[in-house]
This record gives sequence, structure tokens and C-alpha cells, in this order.
Amino acid sequence: MARASLAGRSILDLASLSTDEYSLVLDTARQMRQLMSDDVKKSSILRGKSVVTLFYEASTRTRTSFELAAKYLGADVVNITTSNSSVTKGESLRDTLYTLEAMSFDVIVMRHPVEGTAAFADKVVKPIIMNAGDGAHAHPTQGLLDMFTIKTHKGSFSGLKLAILGDITYSRVARSNIAGLSKLGVEIHVAGPKPLIPKFVDELGVKVHNRVEDAIMDADVIDILRIQLERQKVGLFPTSREYARIFGINNGRLKLAKPDVLILHPGPINRGLEISPEVAYGDKSAIREEVQNGVAIRMALLALTLGGAK
Ligand code: NCD
Repeated sequence: MARASLAGRSILDLASLSTDEYSLVLDTARQMRQLMSDDVKKSSILRGKSVVTLFYEASTRTRTSFELAAKYLGADVVNITTSNSSVTKGESLRDTLYTLEAMSFDVIVMRHPVEGTAAFADKVVKPIIMNAGDGAHAHPTQGLLDMFTIKTHKGSFSGLKLAILGDITYSRVARSNIAGLSKLGVEIHVAGPKPLIPKFVDELGVKVHNRVEDAIMDADVIDILRIQLERQKVGLFPTSREYARIFGINNGRLKLAKPDVLILHPGPINRGLEISPEVAYGDKSAIREEVQNGVAIRMALLALTLGGAK
């Protein structure tokens, strides 16, 4: 069987990557973690390549880690935030993409509030597109960094029980984690307020629970999501205090999970709402490790995709 290759490919979602391709990314990320721990965190494998980050939505982790990843590998990086670009003068996404293509960027890392915009960009311009989040649809690099974090701690995926908690409807992280981890044989359970659990979730082979306690019972991994207030048209849960009481993860609830349970959260955290500070910073939490792994995964993806022409 031919070795998987991502050369020249855009990374739009996890559903369109095979499990061999996931393995290739995770193996490469392991090598990148090595490079990150060197005294001189610099390689020249992307020397002469250029990367632009184009963010139509706020970001701390994703944008910075893409920038850092590209720099560690020797590429040139330019960052565009739409609040100070010609987008504020009414330039369309298509015209912005044409402009970046004309500047000969090799990769466009893109975050946009509308679902499908990364796939659109991939159709209209030549550079490789890295989807850094398109609306509630997909966040493939977060999905891969979570996969990598789980693999590091648990060794393998098959038979693990994962609970994803909170805002499933509006979460691109949940969608990418379900798409990727279900292909790898992880048993996925979700819980959250009813209006935040989409109807189609049953069809994805995911078990839906009304009570958070049932979802986290004997879990190996718990992925806690932020309530995405910015995507909600109407308030879908009563009050923050109520949410924390019914769905929040604290040390008391954590006792229901396996003793070596791994806690994930993509960040940013709403402290004391979906997660208590003692869980977020406790010994079961891999939240800061997810951030480190995010750099390694993005290094791996840039190295693998820029290894050939689209
Ligand atoms: C997530 C996002 O933007 O989708 N954050 C991230 O990339 N780490 C999750 C969130 O905003 O809640």
C-alpha cells in the first residue's frame, strides 16, 4: 500500500482524511515536538515558503500557533486580522483571496464565521488552505491536536470512552473530534442542554445523554467545550450559575470518570462555568499540553502539505 501523503493538499476537515493520513500527521507531530524542545527551535525545511494567516474571527491559540509553527520551520509569515484590512472597506472574501494569491503565498490559514468558506477558498485560489475554523462546521487542526494529546496519554484509541460536554450544536471542535475519533474506534458520548445537542448527532453513532453524570461515567477522556455565546441567536440555557450547577465539571463530578481520566478543553475557558479552576489546572488536565501540541500539529501539517504542489 502506498504511504499516505498530504503533499499539496488543503486541510479542510477531518472527514476527508483517512486514518493513514491521521497517523502520518501524528507521527510527524511527534518529531516536531522533539524540535520544539531543542535549544535552537529552528529548521529550514520551509525556507523560502510563505504563509499568511487570515482571521475573520478572534483567536489566541490557533493563530499564534500557526505563526510560530511556520517560523520554527523557517517560513515567512504575515498576519491579517480583518479589522485592519480592506475587508472593513467592503472587499469580498473572493477578492481578498485573489489578492493573497497574487502575492504568491504558498499557504493561507483561514478562520471565518461562515461554514464552507475554507472549501470555497480552496476552489477559487491556488495556495494550500488550512481551515482554522469555519463557523460551526470544522476545526481540523484542533481535532488533530486533541487526537495527538489522547494518543500521547492513552497509547491507542480503540475502545476508549470519550465524553464531549456542552455546546455541541455550535462547536466546530465537537464536529471535528467526532469525525476523527469515531473513525479510530473511540466510543463517543455527549451531554449538554437539550437545545445545544443537534438532532443529527445520533446518526453519527454518538450516544446522547441528558445528564452529564451518565456521559462521564467511566470515561477515559472528557472534552469540555466553551458555550459559544457569539453563535447563539437566543439564550439557550437559563443562567450561567444554573449551567455550572447542572453541567459544570468540578472535582466532585470527576470522581465518576476513570481514575486516570484525561481532561481536554480547546480554550478559551469560561472559568467556573463549564469547568472549575481546580479541574482546569489539576493533575488530570492536559489543557496546556493541548496548546503545546497545537504548535507541533501545525508544524507537521505545514511540513507535510508544503512537500509538494497542489
Ligand atoms: C475554539 C474555536 O475557535 O473553535 N478555540 C480554539 O481554536 N482553540 C473553541 C472556542 O472558541 O470555544
